[in-house]
Amino acid sequence: MLKIQGLECGYGRMKVIDGVSLEIGNESVGLFGPNGAGKTTLINAVMGMNKPWKGSIELDGTSIVGFETHVMARKGVALVPQERELFPGMSVEDNLRLGAVYIPHAKDSIQEQMEAMFALFPILKERRKQLAGTMSGGQQRMVAIARALMSKPKLLILDEPSLGLQPSIVAEVFDVLKELKKTVSILVTEQNVRESLKSIDRGYVLENGKIVLEDTAKGLETNPHVLKSYLGL
Ligand SMILES: Nc1ncnc2c1ncn2[C@@H]1O[C@H](COP(=O)(O)OP(=O)(O)OP(=O)(O)O)[C@@H](O)[C@H]1O
Ligand SMILES: [Mg+2]
Repeated sequence: MLKIQGLECGYGRMKVIDGVSLEIGNESVGLFGPNGAGKTTLINAVMGMNKPWKGSIELDGTSIVGFETHVMARKGVALVPQERELFPGMSVEDNLRLGAVYIPHAKDSIQEQMEAMFALFPILKERRKQLAGTMSGGQQRMVAIARALMSKPKLLILDEPSLGLQPSIVAEVFDVLKELKKTVSILVTEQNVRESLKSIDRGYVLENGKIVLEDTAKGLETNPHVLKSYLGL
């Protein structure tokens, strides 16, 4: 589905992503790494917010370099960004609707999709008339995930979905991701490696802009470097 090869990009003259190759098929893939490793920069390159200096990014065999974010959404790639970007003064329902209304393959089944989202996140059904900005951090994260799913993506990219959430909500978010991977491919970046390992099939570790490790969730869980640097064991 998504294939990145030899990617280099950065800001000004500072190279942040230094020759990254990564592939996602029909599976759930984690991208781990410390603060500043370049996880968001890599995702922004995929979503057309950051221009690659070198290398290729392909979706189903076609280059997507130079496509803008809204074009990527129409191609079936949805992003839940690290910084929430809900419309705080709009209701939950209206935020969800906006996830689909500009997407040709999703705009004719908004009601159906909305019901599916309410089944996935029952709290959003109860709160559907509430203004998004007045909800808790965890609930807003659920709205953000649901809004991305409203576009009926084939690839869902989540940038640190657990950031700033209470442990109980974190577990809930990863349970949802585990459920979702049955129907959509997932790329998820996380600093919370322990929790996210439960929801992914495979993962990559990105350090200083380079992939230093790539393995199955099981392999990563027992890898000495992961144990020491990411699981604090
Ligand atoms: N808009 C920007 N302009 C200049 N430098 C930036 C910009 N965004 C990020 N950087 C720098 O690029 C490097 C990688 O940042 P990035 O946000 O991609 O890391 P990250 O792995 O997502 O980190 P975090 O876990 O904190 O989200 C850092 O050194 C950061 O300071
Ligand atoms: Mg980031």
